[in-house]
Amino acid sequence: MDSIIVTGGGPLSGTIPIAGAKNACLTLMPATLLSDEPLTLTNAPRLSDIRTMTQLLESLGAEVARLSDGLVLSMSSHILNGERADYDIVRKMRASILVLGPLLARQGHAVVSLPGGCAIGARPVDLHLKAFEAMGAELDLRDGYVHAKAPAGGLRGGIVDFPFVSVGATENALMAATLARGTTVLKNAAQEPEIVDLAHCLQAMGAQISGEGTDTIEIQGVDRLHGATHRVVTDRIELGTYMLAPLIAGGEVTCIGGKRSLLEAFCVRIEEAGAIVTESAEGLTVRRGNGPIKAVNVETEPFPGFPTDLQAQMMALLCTAEGTSVLEEKIFENRFMHAPELTRMGANIEVQGGHAKVMGVSKLRGAPVMATDLRASVSLILAGLAAEGETTVGRVYHLDRGYEHVVAKLSGVGANIRRVKEDG
Ligand code: UD1
Repeated sequence: MDSIIVTGGGPLSGTIPIAGAKNACLTLMPATLLSDEPLTLTNAPRLSDIRTMTQLLESLGAEVARLSDGLVLSMSSHILNGERADYDIVRKMRASILVLGPLLARQGHAVVSLPGGCAIGARPVDLHLKAFEAMGAELDLRDGYVHAKAPAGGLRGGIVDFPFVSVGATENALMAATLARGTTVLKNAAQEPEIVDLAHCLQAMGAQISGEGTDTIEIQGVDRLHGATHRVVTDRIELGTYMLAPLIAGGEVTCIGGKRSLLEAFCVRIEEAGAIVTESAEGLTVRRGNGPIKAVNVETEPFPGFPTDLQAQMMALLCTAEGTSVLEEKIFENRFMHAPELTRMGANIEVQGGHAKVMGVSKLRGAPVMATDLRASVSLILAGLAAEGETTVGRVYHLDRGYEHVVAKLSGVGANIRRVKEDG
């Protein structure tokens, strides 16, 4: 197991290329199961979660080739010879549940293990199942698996009214509905850029979809989907993460490929805290304004609100802000596991239920810390960029799930960061 060692230092300067979105790619890949023609994704991120999804698709009979140094995924599901997504793969990654909708739509039946993934709350899949039921599927939960069966003649269109917003359930239902008979309406649908990206890819495959990017998506089922080539949207979470680096360490960084529209609520919050953000054709450039970073309050919400996946990183910034910030986590109930680790670095944080009160301190000190989930791990690296001395972040396999080349990207803008084997 590797660790990452960051030594706090001077200002950062330069450019960081932002990869294709992990969360978009993880829903675009299962879309290949909907068609017997090839689906090619360009701008794919090179991450362990993508390898896990590759393994899962291959176990179902799909062929997946990684070309151009892994940036292109060429997939074909002309034959499907499996209906069972096994626990051994699914437990590694919650997004595995996204094969259920496509399998059910294409072959009328599927057996998928209940998922695992990051330990950030209970994260059930009831909303996914509710959507399939509204399309006529029969579902049975046995031995830790969902056994799903479409009605004779295949899934049928239906009205799915989600009681609250779920990204994954919207994606799963959207994919399934493309091949259902008749019209499906998804109400209270998620509006994340990754949903819009999925809709665009499905449209390129011949799906009839309207309303993507709003809270009501309408899908007119078609008999079959065909092949397509699609470019994965920019990773807004990786973008936001690196935008915070110069605010924490000082300096100026341009995130290549960044667009403000992907992260408006986040940009507004960091500007309130004292950031200067400028958008150009190249990307987003960030630096500190004159004066210190100021405390701000943050509430995580579904898109277009402040993303939960940037809450840990934002907390790292606010640890040394002037004043007291309150972060409210409204999406996941157990997502402050980075707070005790930041406290080990000298931060002053009080967590109570879904709130964290961050009292700004003048400086953090380097310390050995442990990453507990994907976004928590990167927040510790960010905190280490300006801490006094050395911060060793352990268990970086979490990081490999969601950030490609993190050491190269940060050292490329002047950070003092290296990766070492845990015992050396
Ligand atoms: C996706 C993202 C994840 C992000 C999250 C919220 C991927 C691969 N992952 O996760 O990085 O943090 O969106 O933006 O895209 N819920 C239920 N029942 C369900 C489904 C969800 O109760 O059937 C709850 C969850 O526990 C959570 C909330 O709904 O409290 C939102 O979850 P959801 O939007 O579904 O997140 P994911 O799709 O799992």
